[in-house]
Amino acid sequence: MSTISVVIGSTRPVRVGEQVARELLPLLQNATDHEVRLVDLKEQNLPLAEETLPPRMGRYELESTRAWAKVVDESDAFIFVTPEYNGGYPASVKNALDVVFAEWNGKPAGLVGYGWGGAGRANAQLASIIPNYQMQLVTEPVAIPFGDNAPGENGLVADPAALVAPVADQVLGLLTAVEHALAEEAADQDAA
Ligand SMILES: Cc1cc2nc3c(=O)[nH]c(=O)nc-3n(C[C@H](O)[C@H](O)[C@H](O)COP(=O)(O)O)c2cc1C
Repeated sequence: MSTISVVIGSTRPVRVGEQVARELLPLLQNATDHEVRLVDLKEQNLPLAEETLPPRMGRYELESTRAWAKVVDESDAFIFVTPEYNGGYPASVKNALDVVFAEWNGKPAGLVGYGWGGAGRANAQLASIIPNYQMQLVTEPVAIPFGDNAPGENGLVADPAALVAPVADQVLGLLTAVEHALAEEAADQDAA
């Protein structure tokens, strides 16, 4: 059994991202034998680029980096849940990606973006950099447009289930692609 981490990319005090990820979690868990867990970048509280040495050297100085490296290392695949901020993915996601390196390598990744237009630009930008971490993007990103379920004045959507429901099949397709990638990896390791 592998561990698939669903990464909450936004770190604002109130986040639709957490709502989306919490809706996705049971959907994914009920559809796979792998462990699916939430990983919240807000809880990781990573400082911005405070490591002295390049992450490729793997000699992390900060306790926060070491803790994050462990979380990433213990994950076999990732589903990044990302908002779109001014036409891109958030800095929190880039920072989390950049602060470690080897721990990402060789692992499958899927993307789920949400926003007014479904975060197509955030998804596309994130998709374009995934290979830099030697991760494999398993399939087309899933886009969740707010539609009738836009965040209210409190910054949250009133009905997160209704927001996610229209893309449930796409999310399960993404999961299947992740499972295939994990199975291929396991077969490669057995053959080696
Ligand atoms: C700084 C900022 C920039 C934003 N830019 C976009 C954008 O480019 N496209 C979009 O669809 N929504 C944009 N929004 C609206 C977000 O989609 C919405 O606030 C969403 O709740 C953000 O996700 P979060 O709550 O998980 O942080 C922006 C929001 C913020 C805070």
